[in-house]
Amino acid sequence: MAFLAEQLKRVKPSATIAVTDKARALKQAGRDVIGLGAGEPDFDTPDNIKQAAIKAIESGRAAKYTAVDGLAELKAAIARKFKRENQLDYKPAQIIVGTGGKQVLYNALMATLNPGDEVIIPAPFWVSYPDMVLLAGGTPVPVVGTMERGYKILPAQLEKAITPKTKWLMLNSPSNPTGAGYTREELKALAAVLVRHPHVHVMSDDMYEHLVYDDFEFFSPAQVEPALYERTLTVNGVSKAYCMTGWRIGYAGGPEPLIKAMAMIQSQSTSNPPAVSQWAAVEALDGPQDFIARHNKIFKERRDLCVSMLNQANGLSCPKPEGAFYVYPSCAGAIGKTAPSGKKIATDEEFVTELLECEGVAVVQGTPFGLGPAFRISYATKTEDLEEACRRIQRFCGNLK
Ligand SMILES: Cc1ncc(COP(=O)(O)O)c(C=O)c1O
Repeated sequence: MAFLAEQLKRVKPSATIAVTDKARALKQAGRDVIGLGAGEPDFDTPDNIKQAAIKAIESGRAAKYTAVDGLAELKAAIARKFKRENQLDYKPAQIIVGTGGKQVLYNALMATLNPGDEVIIPAPFWVSYPDMVLLAGGTPVPVVGTMERGYKILPAQLEKAITPKTKWLMLNSPSNPTGAGYTREELKALAAVLVRHPHVHVMSDDMYEHLVYDDFEFFSPAQVEPALYERTLTVNGVSKAYCMTGWRIGYAGGPEPLIKAMAMIQSQSTSNPPAVSQWAAVEALDGPQDFIARHNKIFKERRDLCVSMLNQANGLSCPKPEGAFYVYPSCAGAIGKTAPSGKKIATDEEFVTELLECEGVAVVQGTPFGLGPAFRISYATKTEDLEEACRRIQRFCGNLK
């Protein structure tokens, strides 16, 4: 009898981690490698947030367990944030704090999915979504938003994907991996479909809410369609906008019975998220927000640099995304060509492997995100490195025969 659980056969390790590991190994071997794989800001946590954490440690408040579903002070700050930024009313009993948004999403799926339940996932998607659904016993149903449509799905596609077994639609705007953001009108049009199917719930992953550029305005589904409020879980966190990926704080607002069920899973698995990180998150949400605009100015310049340079590379085509810190160029024009090593490139995985080996640039192939041939670049990295990486990508594409 096998020792490891059967259900592990349904999932695979994250492709983003695999490429980061490969890049690290090359670096350790002395190669000059620029890593554009990681999905975290290159900026440090703002000082006022660090100071709040230090104060929590020194005053002894960080030493003890907190309530499993989060400190009352943090839940109050989250309720204020939802009201202030999303015009959403959530009482403390409708809010849960988890160890990262990832845990919140996972617990929501664990709390709701029965075998055979379907979860609609617009593709390209964050690599973890389908595997989380599989681990929770459900069936992922990808629906592709093509590059021509800005990597967004249409209402008719959503309508077609809904069956009596559909439990959730997982929406992520702005998106990892494409940066695509749904406008208010686009969300309204999707919501109109959902209104006709009251058994479908919405898991809105708003993790990149604050990272939007030009005049794009962020909206959350329950905000644009109040009829969805009762069946929407609005997920967010401090990792991306507040440069706190290592602190591991995410949260959600939603229907009270769902939040209670998620808290029960948390109580029997991880208990409360780290107290010190929760106090830091209170300061993140309540404290000054001005650094976000400063960071966004830099992110926008980097996005524009990538889009412009990648579109000048032979065989690549890169739409300009609304937000997050990713671009997602198609490499369809490079497939079938031969690299200087003599290797014929048949897939996006071979494209990124050759790119890493020839030019020392680490990006992630698109296929695991649900749409290829393409690749994801995270531009949350020093601008000089980014520019050099784009130059190397241009050279690599130029040398394909
Ligand atoms: C779309 C999306 N959702 C959720 C998360 C989870 O973030 P965290 O667990 O750090 O809060 C990430 C992180 O990469 C993400 O890209």
